[in-house]
Amino acid sequence: MKIAIIGTGYVGLVSGTCFAAWGHQVACVDKNAQKIDGLVRGIVPIYEPGLDGLVERNSAVGRLSFTCNLAEAVKGASVVFIAVGTPPRAGHGDADLSFAYMAARELAPLIDDGAVVVVKSTVPVGTGDAVQKIIGSVRTAGHFSVASNPEFLREGVAIRDFMEPDRVVIGVEDERARNVLMELYDAPLEAQKTPIVVTQRRTSELIKYAANAFLATKITFINELADLCEQVGSNVGELALGMGLDKRIGTSFLNAGPGYGGSCFPKDTMALLRTAQDYGVAVRIVEETVTANEARKRRMALKVMDALGGDVEGRTIAVLGLTFKPDTDDMRDAPSVPLIETLQRFGAKIRAHDPVGMENAGHLLSEVEFFDDPYACACNAEAVVVITEWDSIRKLDLVRQKKTMRQAVLIDLRNAFEPRVAEKIGFRVSAIGRSATTQHDNTPAALPHATGHAHRGQTAGAAH
Ligand code: UDX
Repeated sequence: MKIAIIGTGYVGLVSGTCFAAWGHQVACVDKNAQKIDGLVRGIVPIYEPGLDGLVERNSAVGRLSFTCNLAEAVKGASVVFIAVGTPPRAGHGDADLSFAYMAARELAPLIDDGAVVVVKSTVPVGTGDAVQKIIGSVRTAGHFSVASNPEFLREGVAIRDFMEPDRVVIGVEDERARNVLMELYDAPLEAQKTPIVVTQRRTSELIKYAANAFLATKITFINELADLCEQVGSNVGELALGMGLDKRIGTSFLNAGPGYGGSCFPKDTMALLRTAQDYGVAVRIVEETVTANEARKRRMALKVMDALGGDVEGRTIAVLGLTFKPDTDDMRDAPSVPLIETLQRFGAKIRAHDPVGMENAGHLLSEVEFFDDPYACACNAEAVVVITEWDSIRKLDLVRQKKTMRQAVLIDLRNAFEPRVAEKIGFRVSAIGRSATTQHDNTPAALPHATGHAHRGQTAGAAH
């Protein structure tokens, strides 16, 4: 099948490359000539494990191409995906759809008769209807369809999420769109028995927001329970496992931490609230999630200050991990930013390390000293704060880390380390959802993000 993808951002680039890997002929189009120029030369503008190789291999065999020329890209395409950005509008919180609408206007006169235009960008309910109207106002003769097909990719594991999804959601209003999209997804996913949810366009659009808001709420729930654990002397890792093994709840996305960030949860929860408001509906649980998460991100600085006796004026703090989660260079809405800024306002000197996010972090933070080496970062520091649980950070040698520190205080906001082990080495430890009384022998590490299968007899949470 010939496919055109408009927008070579995260979703467009990953989807286009994966469709090519499934054997389709894919043309990715973007207005950013510099980006396209780079992609033509094999330079992938985002950090996503495995994507470079996949782009290179599929470009080499001629299945994947990059162009600024929309007419060339959509000519002969059976499916045209709109995968442009839908950033939050400043001061509004709802999604800015101007790029999506512009793409619709521009592609309208260029598509083949019978083409299916699919909105893959995360868009509010009713966007498909608006796209249909825009294209219809230009193409008064012939046929075209507009469908919705939201993407559920997580940064860092996006290729796996695309190739082995839990489900595919397709929102269609006519048979032709349904058949074309079924043909696109059914064959490659048949062996895995991936469910394909075929629904109306409006339901499909809402599913994306509902899923992200639910996950954000799940994280916020466990974060609040972590606070309670700290007060009552319980352990949030064991709590999450004990709850999550109930199949109705599920163990994933129950890792307590400094609050969720990233390009999706903060933006999509706000956009869902805006839609609900427009239709006079209160989704109070999501309102509370948004408020609680914002407050939590700010409160994390107080946790650091508490661990240092309440005063950070003139003190040197080493921050390990800056990106909103591991395996990405994305700093959007990362909890590290408000945390570092608050500590700086109280007079702390910040040294920081992140395996790949330091360049992006440098654009957002000032007066931070960055270090490629995590050990050098902690040199002379009075506390080390773990904000992002990169594998390389989890594997740090705490004995070596402690040697150069002025004072051995570990504030582990991701429960990346075993408190008992760190304490034996000589650290004073402050973790998430574990009070001093629960940091005893056998205290487990937190659950991993996506898995969490514990076997009978296995220590709770030790499921990494
Ligand atoms: C998310 C959705 O998971 C994905 O389906 C959607 O398409 C895009 O948004 P992403 O933002 O890449 O993906 O990251 P995700 O792994 O979901 O994490 C989001 C945030 O939640 C991160 O800050 C992460 O640290 C935090 N998180 C996640 C937790 O604090 N605890 C958890 O248990 C899981």
